[in-house]
Amino acid sequence: MNRRDFLLGTAAAGASLGASGWGIASATHTQELTLQSASFTFRDKPTKGMVSLSPDAPPQVLFGEQGKPMHLRVTNRTPDYTAMHWHGLRIANRMDGVPYLTQMPIAGGESFDYTFTPPDAGTYWYHPHCMTMAQMAHGLTGVMVIKEAEDPGFDGDQVVNLRDFRLDADGAFLPYYTARGAARGGTHGNVLTANWLQVPVYDYPAGGLVRLRVVNTDTTRIYKLHLSTGQARIIAWDGHPVEMELPLPSAGEPLLVGPGQRVDFAVQMPAGEGQTADLLAELPGQPTRTMAQLRAIGADLARDLAELKPLPANPFSRPDLSSAEVHDFVFGWTPEGDAPNDGYCGSMGYSFWSINRTPWAGDAAKGTGPLAVLERGKSYVLRLRNESPNLHPIHLHGLAFVPIRSNLRKLPPLVTDTMLLLKDEVAEIALVADNPGDWAFHCHVIEHQKTGLAGYIRVT
Ligand code: C2O
Ligand code: CU
Ligand code: CU
Repeated sequence: MNRRDFLLGTAAAGASLGASGWGIASATHTQELTLQSASFTFRDKPTKGMVSLSPDAPPQVLFGEQGKPMHLRVTNRTPDYTAMHWHGLRIANRMDGVPYLTQMPIAGGESFDYTFTPPDAGTYWYHPHCMTMAQMAHGLTGVMVIKEAEDPGFDGDQVVNLRDFRLDADGAFLPYYTARGAARGGTHGNVLTANWLQVPVYDYPAGGLVRLRVVNTDTTRIYKLHLSTGQARIIAWDGHPVEMELPLPSAGEPLLVGPGQRVDFAVQMPAGEGQTADLLAELPGQPTRTMAQLRAIGADLARDLAELKPLPANPFSRPDLSSAEVHDFVFGWTPEGDAPNDGYCGSMGYSFWSINRTPWAGDAAKGTGPLAVLERGKSYVLRLRNESPNLHPIHLHGLAFVPIRSNLRKLPPLVTDTMLLLKDEVAEIALVADNPGDWAFHCHVIEHQKTGLAGYIRVT
């Protein structure tokens, strides 16, 4: 890094601070994202050694508009390599941010320009795909909101980014992964946050309609969520509008939201000033925990959920099941895998997991071919079999898919990019291979991803 680069980067970081919010300047407006070390006070002691896009705040919510070009310049002011991935966006492969597969890692002092036009509206997110475990565990997971072309008519819009940190009593980071965790369900954090805060309270007009976008950006935890109010509806899942009436989760029947997954609720605010609608999480062996609160203020707007028009569908092609070829994928442990080879993108030094008995040898993964080759434009069924007792949120880049059947449960055909595979589950998902490229396909429990449960699918 030379001095000129440094000065340019610093100025750019300053400029980006004011750029959040709903205002989108123009199609050519560049958003500067500068990876840097950060510190944040979670309880009462500052936690140092974090990675964010500003020195003392969570990675900002990024806003874009469906069908409008975006330009995001990622500048790396950390000593480690990185690459940024836009989770759920169906964009060109070379903008997907996967090291070695779609781009070279971004070294300290370097920048990479990501330019793309999001085809879909909804709730998405971003995170590094190089030094993935280290940078995500230290804070670098942000939410991306792609607005519908037409305002859907809410009185408020609230993002809740759920994620845990692993801290000791002094606020210092505990080891962010463990071999024991990586070989099982993953290593859980002990400080549970919403937008890096504990039980943040957000004010919205009493009786108004609020879009609550809940995003699980955790590296490990499968959140079990429900709301304290029955005056709500699930309107989108993993970014895409839900076209059917889904039951509202409740105590005892919570919604499972795995790492990488998103759920948008339309919430009718309570009518009385000061009353709250709460996002609640059920945790094993603990009382139900409030993660965030929406608090009613002002005079009752007396709106009604029935006033909401359904969100416009995204341009998703429904697969043709009559012609679809079936591909099998087995997710399981690996017998004595090869030593991981991660290039510049960080290794845990183990390989515990595999897809089709092949552990992905790391981000660089020299000599590892695609798990499947799909022909552009054709429909496919991917049969996913979980051979392990652990749950795996299986994520596919660049394409959207619909779950069609499972040996364990009835799956609503929701358009998604991440399928939470249960213990002993065999689930089938279907897609149209309509975006060419090499698309990463991996578990979103990052300790699983980084110890073998990863690979890619090629669309030619
Ligand atoms: Cu959200 Cu390959 O990741
Ligand atoms: Cu992704
Ligand atoms: Cu997994």
